[in-house]
Amino acid sequence: MTTLLFASTQRTVGWVLVSIVLVGMGVYLLFNFRIGKREVGSEIELAPNRVRHADDDQLETRLLDRNLAWSLVTLTVVSLVLPLYWLMEPARQDNAAYGWVKRFEKRGANNFEEACVSCHGPGGVGGVASYTLTDADGGFVAQVEWKAPALTTVLSRFDESEVKHILDYGRPGTPMPAWGLPGGGPLTSQQVHQLIVYLRSIQLSPDEAAVEVQSGLRAGARAIVTTADPTLTGDAVDAAIDAWLAQAADPASDDYLRYGELLFNNPAAQGANACARCHTPGFSYGASGPEATAQLMAEWPRLAEAGVLTGYRSGAGHVGPSLQGSETHFPTVGGQEDFVRTGSEVGTGYGNARSGTGAMPGFGGRTDDLDVIGTVVRSPILTPEQIAAIVAYERSL
Ligand code: HEC
Ligand code: HEC
Repeated sequence: MTTLLFASTQRTVGWVLVSIVLVGMGVYLLFNFRIGKREVGSEIELAPNRVRHADDDQLETRLLDRNLAWSLVTLTVVSLVLPLYWLMEPARQDNAAYGWVKRFEKRGANNFEEACVSCHGPGGVGGVASYTLTDADGGFVAQVEWKAPALTTVLSRFDESEVKHILDYGRPGTPMPAWGLPGGGPLTSQQVHQLIVYLRSIQLSPDEAAVEVQSGLRAGARAIVTTADPTLTGDAVDAAIDAWLAQAADPASDDYLRYGELLFNNPAAQGANACARCHTPGFSYGASGPEATAQLMAEWPRLAEAGVLTGYRSGAGHVGPSLQGSETHFPTVGGQEDFVRTGSEVGTGYGNARSGTGAMPGFGGRTDDLDVIGTVVRSPILTPEQIAAIVAYERSL
């Protein structure tokens, strides 16, 4: 009981004040009552209008001055408190808005814990989802582990309405289910909003995002240099990776397209910053290269029979369209780079004559205004040079 009543300092103060007021009122009533008793029959001595009052001299000097002084004091208090009140008002409003954001963030974190962590990992760092692939008639094809991308850069790649759309409708053909009521899911639009506010709180800084991209790039380069020279060990591997990346990033290098391919297939953060997870069939469940794909197909023969996965076909299309022949949709290299930088927008045309759906992320960092209270970090995922290398690779497909 006491813990309930005195749950916070404010409450304790409130209760103390209430007690003082109540005790004071009791004392006042008691005295009044007793004085009232005494007054009976002695009105003549006690009646206030029979008390000798101050004379004119005093009324016009001392008493008048006193009253005027008090008026001045109260007037000063009022005229100081009013502007102070208005000066404090913005801070009060900010605090209210901040409290609102924090409440949403907390509820979003709870929703995330319940609905998303099993696939996307704690804090949205990425994870896996067990998924049953079926053929056109719903027959069993394969049981796969589908990579659920990290969500820690998602607001740098999509705007919030696009993320809301993904949450509302899920991503058909992948393990990502529909969560919002519009898509037949269990969450109200306010709960979806709370999830987005939570996502804002877990976004990586630009430096962290760059480190993440770099770590995936290095993993790819490591495979290349250790295959070329299996005798390399320890620091020599790191040095070889640095050297390989430095020369491959030069557009004149023979390895430039491989460099673009590594970025296209970036495995870091469960593929969050890669292109292949949306543009290469089966990439998200293991078809990440010719050997891995062959292994997967040997394990699940129905993949090929049902036509679900027919081999390693980089950029042949999955969530996003096939990129083979992308140079015919984008007459200029610059135009294609711009598209990869900004992504698509619903209803806005791109390339020669295609209509965007908002489902293609932008990799150059979002710059559109946010209509939000609070803050969110938005990082460029890829540098202009990296985007150029990826586009060169795409145009070679
Ligand atoms: C059953 C597993 C599963 C659950 C549960 C799940 N997701 Fe996903 N989600 C995925 C997978 C897998 C993908 C990637 C699909 C693909 O390959 O395109 C994904 C994609 C997404 C994307 C798009 C990310 C991008 O960069 O393309 C967002 C945003 C997302 N999920 C948010 C959520 C949120 C928020 C929740 C909880 C309400 C949630 N997911 C619950 C499996 C899941
Ligand atoms: C989350 C899934 C997803 C990821 C990741 C993704 N894309 Fe896309 N991409 C799409 C979708 C969907 C489209 C179709 C456009 C639309 O629906 O608005 C598309 C369209 C494209 C197109 C235009 C193709 C055409 O001919 O219409 C290019 C080029 C492209 N993507 C390149 C990339 C590159 C490069 C990357 C990686 C840096 C990438 N995409 C990552 C989903 C994705």
